[in-house]
Amino acid sequence: MSIDRLQAHYGFTRMPFSRDIPPQALHPHPTHREAIARIDWCVSQRQLAVITGEVGAGKTVAIRAALSGLEPSRHQVIYIPDPTIGMRGIQSQIVTALGGTPAFYSGVLATQTAGLLAGELDERARLPVIVIDEAHLLANSDLESLRMLTNTDMDTGSHFAMLLVGQPTLRRRLKLAVLAALDQRISTRYTITGMGATDTADYIRHHLKFAGRSDPLFSDDAIGAIHQAARGYPRAVNNLAIAALIATYAAQKSIVDLGAAQSAITENNE
Ligand SMILES: Nc1ncnc2c1ncn2[C@@H]1O[C@H](COP(=O)(O)OP(=O)(O)OP(=O)(O)O)[C@@H](O)[C@H]1O
Ligand SMILES: [Mg+2]
Repeated sequence: MSIDRLQAHYGFTRMPFSRDIPPQALHPHPTHREAIARIDWCVSQRQLAVITGEVGAGKTVAIRAALSGLEPSRHQVIYIPDPTIGMRGIQSQIVTALGGTPAFYSGVLATQTAGLLAGELDERARLPVIVIDEAHLLANSDLESLRMLTNTDMDTGSHFAMLLVGQPTLRRRLKLAVLAALDQRISTRYTITGMGATDTADYIRHHLKFAGRSDPLFSDDAIGAIHQAARGYPRAVNNLAIAALIATYAAQKSIVDLGAAQSAITENNE
């Protein structure tokens, strides 16, 4: 089964439900827009925000969309996709992004990071925006170090914005006594939930339209079944929709019906 054949069968101009959907073609469902609004606010106020959501809820996509809307000459985005590199790794990335050479000794590196972060706005009129994705993977000691970073800076008037993005365990971890000081510094919190049934239906049609099919390709009950099984989470919707397209193709049918959706759901649960 090749993607080419699938595309030809349905007359898609590009594959729908793909990961590489450009920011301007994203589906603007309410939680997506809300998340972007929170991120924009956090950046404009130079604050610390925490964005959480289940796996595949659309966290990374929302960040990308929000960051792509920032004026590049006035912001220095430092995106850290994998925080398991540890605090040293994070500090090194920040220093490098701000044009420095990371110091060898940890104590020096910490001071260097804080210094460069504080200077970027004053000296180059660019606001550093630190984004840590998968932040639930941060060790408690790393979270504590991040607090120290915000401490030195944010008490005297903040010179950067920071977004912690991760799975719901992040929110729960921040409630731990040892992290209370960091928790207090968080000004914005937002949880990206699954889409409602109407939004999922609209989301599916949106992806199909982007792939060149504006006519109803999925039956309403197929959409309903996919929504329920995916609990409205975009990545799960994508996976089920693609599996349903393949099942429909295999059955040599042209409309994705409830049967195709159900077989996609069954396959997915195996
Ligand atoms: N607003 C949207 N419009 C179109 N597609 C979307 C949207 N939000 C999410 N998606 C789709 O859902 C997929 C999953 O989104 P994303 O990678 O942002 O999830 P995540 O919350 O970061 O997941 P993880 O916890 O696994 O990192 C994306 O690859 C994209 O295809
Ligand atoms: Mg992600």
